[in-house]
Amino acid sequence: MTAPQEADIAAALAWARRQINVVDARLLLQRVCQCSLAHLSAWPEKVLDGARWTAFQALVARRASGEPVAYLIGEREFYGRRFNITPAVLIPRPETELLVELALANFAGESHLRVLDLGTGSGVLAITLALELDHAVVTAVDRSREALAVAMANAILLGARVSFVHSNWYGAVGAARFQLIVANPPYIAAADPHLSHGDVRFEPRMALEAGVHGLDDIAIIVGDSRHHLEHGGRLFIEHGYDQSGSVRALLADAGYASIASWTDLAGIERVSGGRWLG
Ligand SMILES: C[S@@+](CC[C@H](N)C(=O)[O-])C[C@H]1O[C@@H](n2cnc3c(N)ncnc32)[C@H](O)[C@@H]1O
Repeated sequence: MTAPQEADIAAALAWARRQINVVDARLLLQRVCQCSLAHLSAWPEKVLDGARWTAFQALVARRASGEPVAYLIGEREFYGRRFNITPAVLIPRPETELLVELALANFAGESHLRVLDLGTGSGVLAITLALELDHAVVTAVDRSREALAVAMANAILLGARVSFVHSNWYGAVGAARFQLIVANPPYIAAADPHLSHGDVRFEPRMALEAGVHGLDDIAIIVGDSRHHLEHGGRLFIEHGYDQSGSVRALLADAGYASIASWTDLAGIERVSGGRWLG
């Protein structure tokens, strides 16, 4: 779409809104201008300099071609904190906050809790738990070195103490045992058409795909957890909208007690878990 030679804030937003939604347009302009939403609203007549106008047009074109806004602006909020995001990591989803809520509901008030976050990605779960739980000792693993670099940078930025380990699930964790294991693993079936739609197309396959039925990684995480949970410890796993029954069956096979599933804000069973009494 042809763009005018120059534009003020109001004109730039009006031009962008013909191609992308208004929320994304504002976020991209905030990024380019390094300013707040309030600033955009207060100064609609402010003319963008050439470099900013060109940069904004480029971002709008990328968004219009489908690139996720979180990758374009390089950040996403999770549990009230801002995390840096790159295409090396999954874009954190609001439903994943349910894992944090379950952890806090079960363990708030416990000091020096030992926590393991499997498949940490940008580090949202590990970092949030390290900051929300009193003196929690948090270990976070990922198989992607690029993801671990993003997570480590986020931990430094947010002042969280987390030990990051390059590991294939429990592979490099050794004999350590934890009171709490959380995981948001890949759980999409390899042939699922969702993989070729929307934001998901741009996210790392390693963060999404998990075998023919989408349950390969969850099966490993549940099956091997017995070697890494303390007596009375809990495992909470996020899963697909239609996988709660299968995940509860895996937990039952592994010998878990107090097995349950919990719904997200849309009323969908999103997390299942249990208590290890072995
Ligand atoms: C769905 S993403 C979750 C990221 C983050 N925890 C979140 O909730 O936004 C799954 C993560 O698991 C990691 N992963 C995939 N296979 C793995 C494996 N075998 N061992 C460890 N991490 C793995 C991916 O690299 C990715 O970062």
